[in-house]
Amino acid sequence: MNNEPFSVSSHTIRQFFSDISSTYDWINVLMTGGLDSYWRKRAARLAITSRVSKGSAEQKTSRRNSEKWLDICAGTGQMTLSLARRARADTIIVAMDFCSPMIRLLNTTSGKCSIHRCLGDVGIMPFPDDCFDLVTIAFATRNLHTNREKLLHCFGEVKRVLKPGGRFMNLETSQPSSSLVRKLFHGFIGMTVHFLGMAVSGSSSPYQYLASSIQTFYPPAELSNLLVEAGFKNVSFFPMTGGSVAAHLAWKR
Ligand SMILES: C[S@@+](CC[C@H](N)C(=O)[O-])C[C@H]1O[C@@H](n2cnc3c(N)ncnc32)[C@H](O)[C@@H]1O
Repeated sequence: MNNEPFSVSSHTIRQFFSDISSTYDWINVLMTGGLDSYWRKRAARLAITSRVSKGSAEQKTSRRNSEKWLDICAGTGQMTLSLARRARADTIIVAMDFCSPMIRLLNTTSGKCSIHRCLGDVGIMPFPDDCFDLVTIAFATRNLHTNREKLLHCFGEVKRVLKPGGRFMNLETSQPSSSLVRKLFHGFIGMTVHFLGMAVSGSSSPYQYLASSIQTFYPPAELSNLLVEAGFKNVSFFPMTGGSVAAHLAWKR
């Protein structure tokens, strides 16, 4: 499969999200029939409950101490809230995005833990090395894939800010392994995403870009290889809904 991304700069991507911020959540629900919140919930559960080696000292430490989590490309905060609902009260969650109209819509008061908003770019994150126990990203890795090197660089940034033993959960659209399901999925995306997005938000280009980036994104095994190339260990993936979406878990040793 050709994984060449639809050619757009990160400045254009920020403008896209700025243009559609007020309708973003509704359009997701319409396009996925509400499955998007189920996918985030499952990914949150995986991210929070997964431990690479049961009974290790690392596991005991992370259970005793409070944790610091980072949700990158947090947008309006749908993934952040899925995490917050499952977090212990002493967990600190930082939600980061580079688009101010999106992150302004994130509600920091829901959930029992503390949530902090932060404006920042994944390519150059405003955090020191080794400071988060968990980093998550939902439905935005395609936006970081302006080219293969940039995506590898962003994965490197994620690894840099994770503590040793920390984990990265990447939730993204994927490529179903069955060619029939893949054709149906791509046909559905081609027919609905652009037109539905245009009809509800009034903006054509963001949804044209979205449809194209879904159709050309990496199959799950190739994304695993990229995470390994970026230096992550114990990479595994969990396909959902016929493989149209996948959650990847990766660890920093
Ligand atoms: C499709 S939305 C996903 C939002 C949210 N994670 C969710 O699950 O609904 C993608 C978000 O990624 C943000 N984004 C894209 N590239 C980024 C970058 N380089 N740094 C920070 N945020 C970025 C956009 O501003 C947008 O809010």
